[in-house]
Amino acid sequence: MNSGSRKLPPPDWDRLGPLGESLLERRSVRSYSPETITEEDLSLLLASACGISDPVNSLRTAPSGGATYPLDLYVVSETGVEEYVPEDHSLVVIKEGDTRSSLAHHSYRQSFIARAPVTFVICADYPRITSRYRDRGIRYAILEAGHIAQNIHLACVSLGYGSVAVGAYDDDDVANALGIEGRGHVIYLVTAGKPG
Ligand SMILES: Cc1cc2nc3c(=O)[nH]c(=O)nc-3n(C[C@H](O)[C@H](O)[C@H](O)COP(=O)(O)O)c2cc1C
Repeated sequence: MNSGSRKLPPPDWDRLGPLGESLLERRSVRSYSPETITEEDLSLLLASACGISDPVNSLRTAPSGGATYPLDLYVVSETGVEEYVPEDHSLVVIKEGDTRSSLAHHSYRQSFIARAPVTFVICADYPRITSRYRDRGIRYAILEAGHIAQNIHLACVSLGYGSVAVGAYDDDDVANALGIEGRGHVIYLVTAGKPG
């Protein structure tokens, strides 16, 4: 039964500090300047996405069902495709060369993807979580991708970058183009760069 409604006080964004600013300022940005993302900023974006925030317990910035961490994060840039390894905060080269045009092509020709300095690619290795939660683990993994993506969006705003979530692409064609076929399911992309 509807027992009425009540008006809430206006949100006092200032109380959230820089987080309030990031939440208010975040908008999908699809136009980028060619300027690359610096190594220092990439480090911070990856750490924010799913880096280790509690080394003692090996816990990360993004929550994960049962701390099973079924997601892997790849970085696509002009130089190639790299995998982020949270455990030692490093990048491992998967494929050399610029695959961004191919990535854009297989994302239903969303041309801004070819011009984005970086696209973060979130992949799920489902057995890591379904071994514990059975079929429900699929849902958990997909939800977790949202956590990682939002961390990237908010960190981007803080550092002066723009980003956009991309869900429209052919999973298998993207995996093949990036050289990550057989490494899990591509479930989310986030492109990022300086607005321009
Ligand atoms: C799951 C998901 C998939 C999306 N896929 C795309 C996409 O393929 N291409 C795109 O340009 N924007 C995509 N977006 C971004 C939305 O269009 C955007 O968030 C929406 O228009 C609201 O605008 P805002 O992000 O500026 O608040 C996606 C967003 C979400 C959450």
